Amino acid sequence: MPRKIVVTSALPYANGPIHIGHLVEYLQTDIWVRFQKISGNQCFYFCADDTHGTAIMISAKNKGITPEQLIDGVHEEHYNDFKRFLIEFDNYYSTHSSENRTFSETIFNRLNAAGSITKRSIDQAWCPNCKMALPDRFIRGTCPKCKAEDQYGDSCEVCSATYQPTDLINPRCSNCGSTPVLKQSEHYFFKLTDYEKQLRDIFAKGYIQESVSNKLDEWFNAGLKDWDISRDGPYFGFKIPGEEDKYFYVWLDAPIGYMASAKNYCDKNGLDFNAVWNGPDYELYHFIGKDIMYFHALFWPAMLVGAGFKTANKLFVHGFLTVDGQKMSKSRGTFIKAATYLNHLDPEYLRYYYASKLSAGIDDLDLSFEDFINKINSDLVGKFTNLASRAAPMLKSKLNSRLGKLDGEGKKLIDTIAAAGNEITQNYENLNYAAVIRTATALADLANRYVEQNQPWTTIKTDPEKARTTLTATLNAVRILTIYLKPVLPAFAEKVERLLNIGKLTFADIHTTLQEHNINDFERLFERVDKEKVDAMIEESKDTGDKPMAAEPTPAITAEPIKPECTIEDFAKIDLRIAQVVKAERVEGADKLLRLQLDIGGIQKNVLAGIAQAYQPEAIIGKIVIVFANLKPRQMRFGLSEGMILASGPGGKEIFMLTADAGAKPGAKVS
Ligand code: 2FM
Ligand code: ZN
Repeated sequence: MPRKIVVTSALPYANGPIHIGHLVEYLQTDIWVRFQKISGNQCFYFCADDTHGTAIMISAKNKGITPEQLIDGVHEEHYNDFKRFLIEFDNYYSTHSSENRTFSETIFNRLNAAGSITKRSIDQAWCPNCKMALPDRFIRGTCPKCKAEDQYGDSCEVCSATYQPTDLINPRCSNCGSTPVLKQSEHYFFKLTDYEKQLRDIFAKGYIQESVSNKLDEWFNAGLKDWDISRDGPYFGFKIPGEEDKYFYVWLDAPIGYMASAKNYCDKNGLDFNAVWNGPDYELYHFIGKDIMYFHALFWPAMLVGAGFKTANKLFVHGFLTVDGQKMSKSRGTFIKAATYLNHLDPEYLRYYYASKLSAGIDDLDLSFEDFINKINSDLVGKFTNLASRAAPMLKSKLNSRLGKLDGEGKKLIDTIAAAGNEITQNYENLNYAAVIRTATALADLANRYVEQNQPWTTIKTDPEKARTTLTATLNAVRILTIYLKPVLPAFAEKVERLLNIGKLTFADIHTTLQEHNINDFERLFERVDKEKVDAMIEESKDTGDKPMAAEPTPAITAEPIKPECTIEDFAKIDLRIAQVVKAERVEGADKLLRLQLDIGGIQKNVLAGIAQAYQPEAIIGKIVIVFANLKPRQMRFGLSEGMILASGPGGKEIFMLTADAGAKPGAKVS
């Protein structure tokens, strides 16, 4: 009986791009889902953007757009990045959806009715300048334990201590740099403590890998605590039923987004959501990173149990990505966005490389670029591509593209390769992809040795039918190896299917062979990776570093890394001109932008300038400003901007346009 399976990956935050660190999880999950599908199981892969919270609200505000506009744009970007990495969701949805609102309210109401919600007053950090409650991550200050500066409000990245934001020395709002004050507010709490027994029962049934069970003991020994599930407005999220200015904390509705995505898919495809999500016929698995285990191992199953929903069969927890042994870093150029990677390299290289390093544990995965280049060139090109390229072109040019029959030796080779099928499927099932790759490459070595021993390039001249027999075995080896690699390399598999002139390969095809059959023309399967391409990708990823705090920072955290050198010739390309503001108006939906029409000595240019909080439009009409006149026009969300006016200052109200003497002539050069 085919299995019925629902799979989720953690929902990426909608406030930033997908990077190669994220991809560890989505590739791990996608490979597992593809493996299930081509093993004949029904498997749905659901995901969504995680769209709520303070970070998204602030980020939208800083961009001068609404949170809805921000998350819509990010959704499209995320979806495209995933697609280009051949990550195939059955549904990629959003937590800012009606389904998610309904489920969040239902779960909250049911927990409330079950007596699992309590209210109490807390002291919360409040920024008097931003006029909002500050989440722990938006407060920075000196670690109370090791005295490291510029640490988050909840934990220190230097000594790993965890603490309350009130313990921080010299705390500051990371948005504006003001000192937060404490403000009392009534919050809703989920009584996690009531669920200890149910949680222990769930774990006893194997909810979590062995390798992380120590962590659970630690949590239980430390004692479970009630969980604050509400946030005061202003906040971007769902309002709590019956409240005017209180919202569900983003982490409450984020995992509920798994259900919302499933529901949306079921509705669109005529399926019964209750059967798919909550029924006994479907297995349910969540893939997550080790940083969000607490949410998925404790809060999430407890909420589901309390609200009368089924919990997942298992969490699959993975470690983090390191690059050349270190955390990804913007200054080293190893914080690589998915889109940047794709500007330089084939997505299947990364799929293959991660697969070759992934196993079921929570150990971190290291991407070493030297190893990456070696693996791609020696395995993907040197072993798999080579096998096909040694056989297919010769069969076409000398033997009418027709496979013959397997002889005893060829059959032995194919039997040996097919015999690994069980081990490979077990390893896929148990997330030991590294073992799959090891086995497949060893079998490819065997097949390449077979070709060398049988020398079809010699026998083609003396005994062409013998050569046909050798090439038949070789291409049958390619066929089975392709099945083994298909979950990892779906595009490669498609090319091989085209080459072999066959339908979609599945694991059931391991035990059949292809004989007396015409094949198609050979198309190149993989190109070698040049180090230059990797270097160019790293160069493109080099960035100005993390955003510093906005005010009163210590020198160590203000200085952004200096950008790569710019020559005097580069600088000379900039054409600065005197311009007169002819028209100035506000831009609807963008509270930071003014739309300016500039006269540059008879040439008119439209410029979108981020000065709306500092200048009233009417006050600057007629002003003489300096414009970067030959800046390539940029299509911005609110229109085309054809230049840039020069201004300086920290931002907001404190931006000062560089102006010139009222007598300066529009169009004149500025040097
Ligand atoms: O850690 C994160 O990036 C979260 N956005 C993951 C949410 S997973 C699920 F709970 F939605
Ligand atoms: Zn502030």
